[in-house]
Amino acid sequence: GDPLPNGRRPAPEPEANPVPPESPGSCCVSKLTRELNVSNKQLRSTVRQSLTDMKNQLEQLKDAMGKMALEEQQAAGEVEELRSLYRKEAVERKSLYNKLLELQGNIRVFCRCRKSSASNPCVEKTDDQEVAVIQKGSKKKFQFDKVYGSSSTQEEVFAGTLPVITSCVDGYNVCILAYGQTGSGKTYTMMGSKENPGVNIRSDRRLSHKGRTEDLTLSIYNDTLNDLLTKNPGAALDLRVQGKSVSVPGLTQIQVQTEADILNVMETGEKNRKIASTKMNIQSSRSHLVVALEVEGSDEVSGLTSRGTLTLCDLAGSERIAKTEATGQRLVEAAAINKSLTALGQLRLYLLCVIEKFIRKNLQMNECIICSKLCFTDRNVFKT
Ligand SMILES: Nc1ncnc2c1ncn2[C@@H]1O[C@H](COP(=O)(O)OP(=O)(O)OP(=O)(O)O)[C@@H](O)[C@H]1O
Ligand SMILES: [Mg+2]
Repeated sequence: GDPLPNGRRPAPEPEANPVPPESPGSCCVSKLTRELNVSNKQLRSTVRQSLTDMKNQLEQLKDAMGKMALEEQQAAGEVEELRSLYRKEAVERKSLYNKLLELQGNIRVFCRCRKSSASNPCVEKTDDQEVAVIQKGSKKKFQFDKVYGSSSTQEEVFAGTLPVITSCVDGYNVCILAYGQTGSGKTYTMMGSKENPGVNIRSDRRLSHKGRTEDLTLSIYNDTLNDLLTKNPGAALDLRVQGKSVSVPGLTQIQVQTEADILNVMETGEKNRKIASTKMNIQSSRSHLVVALEVEGSDEVSGLTSRGTLTLCDLAGSERIAKTEATGQRLVEAAAINKSLTALGQLRLYLLCVIEKFIRKNLQMNECIICSKLCFTDRNVFKT
């Protein structure tokens, strides 16, 4: 430009919109920015799509959960309905089962023949309900509800008692007792040996699987009650009769759950039981043994609970005093044993009369038929 009056040259005017010279770096940045913009758009669209998908899935999930809750509610209702039906059925089964047992006889008499070493045994099982006793060449036949031959096993005899044991879990009071001449196998059948246990231990085992059981063991020696499980043996116990219920206050009660518990209780009881030898049976039981099992049964599904007692008795041997050559204390024992067995016989007759009255009242059956049937059963039992 022309020099200014002061002789200075004016400063050069800046160029309008100067284009910066493009460097390779700035080219990369703009490319990256463009790419980033594209990526950003794509990402936004993907996120938007994903969010829509998730929303849809959530909706579906919500629907499914709603349906599930509804189904669960219906299922709970059905379960409750089934539970109530089951409860009804269980009560019905219990009632029918026990009615069936009543029809088979509230008092049932089984006969077990003992193994004999004699070449000509005097007792012979003729069929499932009959035995023949051979005496002086003549054969007399006796009928029972069931007869077990001399080769019968402990398992078979126990199987015969199972139906009434089931009744006990249902809340019924049941009694199984072994009655017979000294040496005839009562203790063997009820207690058995360690290797071959009898009804006592087998039923204990069975019931301990089915519910909570309590064990009480008592012996009756010369009309005196003895607690076999007490730590203080010898203390006399009293019998309390209140209306129809008979109890022995103060009797030791032990809870049994495992097989070891059962064996322990039985062993203690067995040790305390009075055993003395007589001429007929070197291991003769001189006292009546009563094992009472209180069973509390509960059905987890129906919630029903019941409480029954199974009383197992191994009676002392009935014997003819002259035959066993008992003298002194043995004679006193024999007299007490025979006296209580006579009382038991009277009780049985009384119960048969009660049952007879009940049947007559409920079924209105012909009196003569029932009477003759009862007398017939009775004669069999008392002659055997
Ligand atoms: N079915 C059997 N199989 C094998 N041995 C038996 C059988 N029954 C009894 N015995 C044996 O016969 C003997 C007498 O039996 P057990 O002691 O059971 O008679 P009991 O009826 O209890 O006599 P008591 O009234 O005098 O006590 C025992 O040695 C016993 O082991
Ligand atoms: Mg015995």
